[in-house]
Amino acid sequence: MSRVYNFSAGPAVLPEEVLKEAANEMLDYRGSGMSVMEMSHRSSSFETIIRNAERDLRTLLEIPEDYEVLFLQGGASLQFSMIPMNLMKQRKADYIVTGQWAKKAWKEAEKYGEARVIASSEDRTFSYIPDVSDLPVSEDADYIYICENNTIYGTKFHKLPDTKGKPLVADVSSCFLSEPADITKYGIMYGGVQKNIGPAGVTIVIIRKDLISDDVLSGTPTMMRYKIHTDAKSLYNTPPAYGIYICGKVFRWLLDLGGLPEIQKRNQTKAALLYEYLDNSRLFSGTVKKKDRSLMNVPFVTGKKELDEKFIAEAEKEGLVNLRGHRSVGGMRASIYNAMPYAGVEKLVTFLERFEKENG
Ligand SMILES: Cc1ncc(COP(=O)(O)O)c(C=O)c1O
Repeated sequence: MSRVYNFSAGPAVLPEEVLKEAANEMLDYRGSGMSVMEMSHRSSSFETIIRNAERDLRTLLEIPEDYEVLFLQGGASLQFSMIPMNLMKQRKADYIVTGQWAKKAWKEAEKYGEARVIASSEDRTFSYIPDVSDLPVSEDADYIYICENNTIYGTKFHKLPDTKGKPLVADVSSCFLSEPADITKYGIMYGGVQKNIGPAGVTIVIIRKDLISDDVLSGTPTMMRYKIHTDAKSLYNTPPAYGIYICGKVFRWLLDLGGLPEIQKRNQTKAALLYEYLDNSRLFSGTVKKKDRSLMNVPFVTGKKELDEKFIAEAEKEGLVNLRGHRSVGGMRASIYNAMPYAGVEKLVTFLERFEKENG
């Protein structure tokens, strides 16, 4: 067996311990005689899996009782429409546009009402987070929307916007469970799990109870109503059962490590190693305003397209894979999610140094 260091932005690296455990249970899940893939979602075994997953997620994020936790499908992208359909009662919402994903969410919301952009960083190719301390929030906005960590550009809101009392809705797909978060500051925190938590196919939505009701936009499909899913405890229809099972194992892995404060420490150490190298390199440079840097996605360039290509190809031969930047921005991007070991970042930095010596 030969495993690489996978710097993909998602689907992404998962903890090896979790993959091994899943492999051991593949043919016979704890004496059931079948794989979790083959199991009814109404079985008591699966009931235990999903309830334990929710319990452990609640412990990790200290989610209070007035929030519901949902395991849904449709990716983060389905939430771009589910959010306005369920929340836009006055048909007004404010969006902060800090990248392609926030922009897509905003464009989708425009189909349902007046979606205003109240701050944007598009003027400098989304390389920073705009000042959100005193936003021109619409008086009757149903919610304020952010994408908390911008996967493509490598920026992160290190301070949440002042929403002036309006519910904050945040896409945390690429920073989910990477550090502690105060859930009470959010109306909805949601994300696809395929970056930090599990395999593609599960979307976790953590939603404050007062935002859930039958009062949704007319024509909202049954499957897109939060209330349908909260009433059925994520079992309205067949859920992405195997994915939820793996998410549950990742939650346990995080708890066993020491929870979110511990993973935050590890993530800070990993990111510091890479950023420090980039800050001192004469060949490579980061592309993001320092104070807004993400701990999870680290974009960098040489400034020369051919050299970037050479780097990506040579890195791959070293077992450092998926370092190509997003197709819309080019260059390189190292995604160093929770499950990327320190040794992986160390190996990347050693290779960067060598490449700089040979090509600088
Ligand atoms: C921040 C963010 N939001 C949304 C998405 C879209 O997610 P999905 O493919 O699950 O719809 C991505 C995907 O990479 C992302 O990084």
